[in-house]
Amino acid sequence: MTEHSSTPQDAAQPLSDRVENRSQRPDSAAFQQFMASQWAEAEPTEVERAPVADFAAERRRRISERFPGERLVLPAGPLKVRSNDTDYRFRPHSAFAHLTGLGVDHEPDAVLVLEPVQEGAGDDGGHHEATLYFHPMAGRDSKEFYADAKNGEFWVGPRPTLEELGAAYGLRTRDLGGLEDAVTKNAGPTALGGLRVRLVREVDLNVDALVDTSRINTGVDLESSDALDGELAEALSELRLVKDAHEVGQLREAVDATIAGFTDIVHVLPAAAGHRHRGERMVEGAFFARARTDGNDLGYDTIAACGNNATVLHWIRNTGRVIPGELILVDAGVEADSLYTADITRTLPVNGRYSEVQRRIYQAVLDAADAAFDAAVPGNRFRDVHAAAMEVLARRLESWGLLPVPAEVSLSAAGQHHRRWMPHGTSHHLGLDVHDCAQAKRELYVDGVIEPGMVFTIEPGLYFKAEDLAVPEEYRGIGVRIEDDVLITEDGNVNLSSGLPRTPDEVEAWMTGLWHAREGVDPS
Ligand code: GLY
Ligand code: MN
Ligand code: MN
Repeated sequence: MTEHSSTPQDAAQPLSDRVENRSQRPDSAAFQQFMASQWAEAEPTEVERAPVADFAAERRRRISERFPGERLVLPAGPLKVRSNDTDYRFRPHSAFAHLTGLGVDHEPDAVLVLEPVQEGAGDDGGHHEATLYFHPMAGRDSKEFYADAKNGEFWVGPRPTLEELGAAYGLRTRDLGGLEDAVTKNAGPTALGGLRVRLVREVDLNVDALVDTSRINTGVDLESSDALDGELAEALSELRLVKDAHEVGQLREAVDATIAGFTDIVHVLPAAAGHRHRGERMVEGAFFARARTDGNDLGYDTIAACGNNATVLHWIRNTGRVIPGELILVDAGVEADSLYTADITRTLPVNGRYSEVQRRIYQAVLDAADAAFDAAVPGNRFRDVHAAAMEVLARRLESWGLLPVPAEVSLSAAGQHHRRWMPHGTSHHLGLDVHDCAQAKRELYVDGVIEPGMVFTIEPGLYFKAEDLAVPEEYRGIGVRIEDDVLITEDGNVNLSSGLPRTPDEVEAWMTGLWHAREGVDPS
């Protein structure tokens, strides 16, 4: 018998339970009794209504208008496993965050249910009553308190009670134990008098299963239900195309923290240039520290791309060197505690000064961005912003002798040669998700009319790969992107990220100013 053979006892234990095999948790009645005793009374906390609560109520009222007489189910989603019993930090689904106002750390497994009532008799004159189903904090006399690593206060810290969360966010709150009944009662084919249920799918597989089982049991057609669920996802995405005042405030906070993060990057650049092989990681790390201190997290993985790495559009490995004389493209965004994120790119000269060819390319991208800003006004279409940037870039590439056809031909649908060096879009909506409103219809997104309150990026670039034989050698290995976050106003727009230098002269003066303010360090 080898030492690897399993005992009958091992064979009987499900694999999923075996993560417990490392621990020796006491289980005696005496221990349980002792653990449940002698805890100070929890301090009574005065719960204030969260500033977001009224905005979230208005968002719910608007979605209620779209779906009278139907039950709407929006899960927050579960904790996601990183490996075995170690989870990623929790982030609720964005549609759930938008309609509840709940941000960082709230509330794994929770589900928002909008229950139809008589038209106009619902919350705020709408057609639904909103209830949040979640797992409230258990008392210190419970086993959960000390033995449940996912929910217990001993493990994860205090969490809200039903009353606290209800008071803070202006929602009815119920224990998650009531969810099944709340989601399934009276549900069925509408032709037979049943209630239609729409679900935001693929957020929580347990809730998907609950709804699907109910549909199968009551004879509701699954395929047409999928389409109805899709319409809800689409409507929730489109609800976010125009931001309310609270959202704009949160985006401003995220942008300001991101600008501070770029200042940190300039400070760390001389040291990064001195790192023998992974200076890009030092840049990434400096920004991450800012994201975690001033906000909740990164809104997306930071791109810190020096030299030719900047021509790899999603360079998030960040394993390269930071080399004086080259450019470093940094695309980074702080996500606020409310989960709104900035999305900003600057392309900085590592030694604080652009070379002549670097400056030439940078200026072309900047001119394209400025043209895009001019086009980003109410009444224009979203696609006009991209077209304005492409017009500038195609003509500049033509003037440099790089286009194999006239700019007019390149700009036509049958040409597009200039896109070899600018293959991505110029803009995307920005909000709770870095690529916000992703389920919106094409006619409201790329073909949509720009409206006050929209927030999107303007981010043209030019990317000349080291191995690109279609351009002269001096261009090769240079990638430039300039990305700002723009708020559309009644009569134009505001660049939310204008606090970060954009022109080559401004960038140089800003970088050298920061270095000289700090012991006169200069990496060149
Ligand atoms: N950072 C992702 C983007 O710019 O779209
Ligand atoms: Mn972007
Ligand atoms: Mn970006």
